[in-house]
Amino acid sequence: MRTQVAIIGAGPSGLLLGQLLAKSGIDAVVLERQTGDYVLSRIRAGVLEQVSIDLMDEAGVGERMHKEGLIHGGFDMLFGGQRHRVNMNALTGGKNVMVYGQTELTKDLMDARAAAGLPTVYEASNVQVHDFDTTAPYVTYVKDGQEQRLDCDFIAGCDGFHGVCRASAPRSAIKEFEKVYPFGWLGLLSDTPPVHEELIYVNSPRGFALCSQRSKTRSRYYLQVPLTDKIEEWTDDAFWQELRLRLDDEANERLITGPSLEKSIAPLRSFVTEPLRFGRMFLAGDAGHIVPPTGAKGLNLAATDVKYLFNGLREYYEEKSEAGIDRYSELALARIWRAERFSWWFTQIMHRFPDDGPIAEKFQNAELDYLMHSESGLRTIAENYVGLPLDFGQQA
Ligand code: APR
Ligand code: PHB
Repeated sequence: MRTQVAIIGAGPSGLLLGQLLAKSGIDAVVLERQTGDYVLSRIRAGVLEQVSIDLMDEAGVGERMHKEGLIHGGFDMLFGGQRHRVNMNALTGGKNVMVYGQTELTKDLMDARAAAGLPTVYEASNVQVHDFDTTAPYVTYVKDGQEQRLDCDFIAGCDGFHGVCRASAPRSAIKEFEKVYPFGWLGLLSDTPPVHEELIYVNSPRGFALCSQRSKTRSRYYLQVPLTDKIEEWTDDAFWQELRLRLDDEANERLITGPSLEKSIAPLRSFVTEPLRFGRMFLAGDAGHIVPPTGAKGLNLAATDVKYLFNGLREYYEEKSEAGIDRYSELALARIWRAERFSWWFTQIMHRFPDDGPIAEKFQNAELDYLMHSESGLRTIAENYVGLPLDFGQQA
C-alpha cells in the first residue's frame, strides 16, 4: 500500500491532521493500535481555545461542537476561602473558551473520517517506522495476523506519549525535558448538573480541586491526591466528602452528588521533546510533549501542532516548497514552551507540594491575592488561559 502521509495514532492529533489533509486533497492512512471504542473510552479534558474551535471548523467537523459546546467567558478561582472571577472575555477583548469534551471531539472526527471513506486501520499491532532519514520512508504493521507495509512520503507521529515514533528517533538527535509532579489528579465523571455555570479552580489547605463539566447535566470533578493513593480505595462517597472539604459554603449548598460514571487517578507531568522533526518523520501532540492538566492546554497544543504541520505539508504538496516543514519544529516548540510554562506555573500556585512548609501556602495565597486584585495580574492569567495568539512573539 502507498500513501502520501502515514499517520500513526487515531487520537485527536492524528484524526484532525487526517481531516485537514483530506480537505486539501492530500492522501493519508491512519494506523491505530487500539479499537475506535477504546480510543473513545479515554476521558480527557474538554476546554477548547478559539484556535482549536477554528481548526475543527476548517476541518469541516464543527457542526455538533457549535450546537452542544458551552461558551465560557470566565472561570472562578477559590483560595483562602474566597471566590474570585477571572472575566476572560472582558480581559482579552472578547475572547472565550468552549467546554466540549475531548471524547465528543474525537467522535466527530472519527465519524467524519468514516463518512468520507478515508482509510483508518484500527488494531494495527507492532507498528514500526523505517527509513525516515531518507526520501522513501515506510511503516510496517501487523493486521489480522498479516504483516503489512505502507510506503509514504512522510510519517506523522501522532501516537501519544507512549507511542512508537518518538521512541524510534535516534537517541543522539533527541533532547527530552521532564518534570514529574509529586501528586496526581483523582477525576470523577457523573451525570449530575455542574455545581457552577463556569469552572472553579480551588487552592485549599487540603490541596487542589477543580469543578469542571462536560454539559449542563454532566460534571467532571478533580482532587489532588498523593501518588500512592489507589483508585480502589476511593469510594464515590469518600470523593464527594473530600471535595466538600475543599469547596466554599456557596458551592457546598449547590453541589449535587451522584454515582460516578468513571473514576481514575492521573499523574502530572511536564515533558517536551526537541526537536519535533527527524528527517521525514514529525511528532505532534502528546507524542512530543505533555503538560500537567491545570489550565487544560494538552488538547489545544495538539491542535496547534497539527495546524503548523498541516500548513507545512500543504505547502510541500501545493507549492513544492519545504519551507513550511523546515520551520515546523521551531514554530510548534515556541508555542509549546509558552503553554508548558503557563501550565507549570498554574500547577505551582494551585497545589500543595508535600516537601514545602507552611510558608509556601502563604506565598501562594499572597500571589493569588495579588493576581486577583491587579488588572495586569488578571490579564496575565486570562490571556494565557484563552490561548496566546498564533503569531505571538512574531509581531514586529
Ligand atoms: N501504534 C499505533 N497507534 C498507537 C501506538 C502505536 N505504537 N502507540 C499509541 N498509539 C495510539 C494510541 O492508542 C492513541 O489512540 O495513538 C493515539 C494517541 O492519542 P492521544 O494519546 O490522545 O494523543 P494526541 O492525539 O496527541 O492527543 C493529545 O490527548 O492526552 C490528551 O491532553 C492530551 O488532550 C491532549 C490529547
Ligand atoms: C476537564 O474538564 O477535564 C478539565 C478542565 C479544565 C482543566 C483540566 C481538566 O484545567
